[in-house]
Amino acid sequence: MSNDDLANIATTLMADGKGILAADETVGTLTKRFDALGIRSTEQSRRTYREMLFTATGAAEFISGVILHDETIRQKSSGGTLLVQVLSSQGIVPGIKVDTGAKPLAAAPGETITEGLDGLRDRLAEYHGMGARFAKWRAVIRIADTLPSPGCVSANAHALGRYAALCQEQRLVPIVEPEVLMDGSHSIERSEEVTGIVLHAVFQALLEQRVSLEAILLKPSMVIAGTESPRPTSVQQVATATLRCLGRHVPAAVPGIVFLSGGQRDQLATAHLDAINRLPGPKPWKISFSYGRALQDPALEAWHGRDENLRSAQQALAQRARCNGAASRGTYTEEMETKSAGVGTPAHRREGHDD
Ligand code: 13P
Repeated sequence: MSNDDLANIATTLMADGKGILAADETVGTLTKRFDALGIRSTEQSRRTYREMLFTATGAAEFISGVILHDETIRQKSSGGTLLVQVLSSQGIVPGIKVDTGAKPLAAAPGETITEGLDGLRDRLAEYHGMGARFAKWRAVIRIADTLPSPGCVSANAHALGRYAALCQEQRLVPIVEPEVLMDGSHSIERSEEVTGIVLHAVFQALLEQRVSLEAILLKPSMVIAGTESPRPTSVQQVATATLRCLGRHVPAAVPGIVFLSGGQRDQLATAHLDAINRLPGPKPWKISFSYGRALQDPALEAWHGRDENLRSAQQALAQRARCNGAASRGTYTEEMETKSAGVGTPAHRREGHDD
């Protein structure tokens, strides 16, 4: 498979009006989300939950790809079909999380380095054989008065470059995810500054590792004030700062940008994406979503671990997928939300990832 074939997969993932569902929570992270709602986390209950997401009527129209976790890519549906095939048969491209988590970075208190490069070539080959066509690696950058340190930024950027090169060698499209966390009291200006520094380092590392930029997708965080910031920001401010930062630091060769939601309320994540797509000015890349919590939270809440709620959970997912599909075209309106009245902000939404 050439880089042209990989670029075609990237283009498929960025199809008009579609985005990516991130359903790759580790067992630990999903167990925490289940615990918050009193749902028992077992291999079986996690499979039931994922199967519910992957078979939701009306969602596939707006979902081009799904990111799976290692446990899920090996699981079968209740009807005995591999979940990967359940996705492929609906025209949804299966993807796989391949990092092994953010671990404490030595000599850098409060900072992490994402691990998983050892043995990665073989794992990628195995996942490709199982039907995965793209991969994800999440680097985590924390903002504080003296953070991030240059060492943390360069170590994480280097790992993203090594990962992306290995993915392309093994015929998977790498999703390159440098997440600048929303946690903290920083301003939107500081978020823009740090996001710019991180993106600059990441693209330098990708070029050093000879990654074909036409065959990656970038999964950044939006430029947004910290959750403890005393100065609230408007949707318009977030959209303007985010697009300005991306315009300065993301080469035009990259086919697509798919945002993570990072703990934003689900409807706000949709409104931000929509506002970014409505902004005038040059946008050389397509801009869509690769949300985890902002797509799943209302569905998880509706399901609550009970079979009798599976249908309403699927409707909740389809509703978020439809709204975000519209936001990826810049045609989302608040009226589209009337069907989901009553969907609030679950207490567990702000829980981050352990991995
Ligand atoms: P959130 O949208 O919940 O931030 O998750 C996206 C993701 O894949 C993080 O790695």
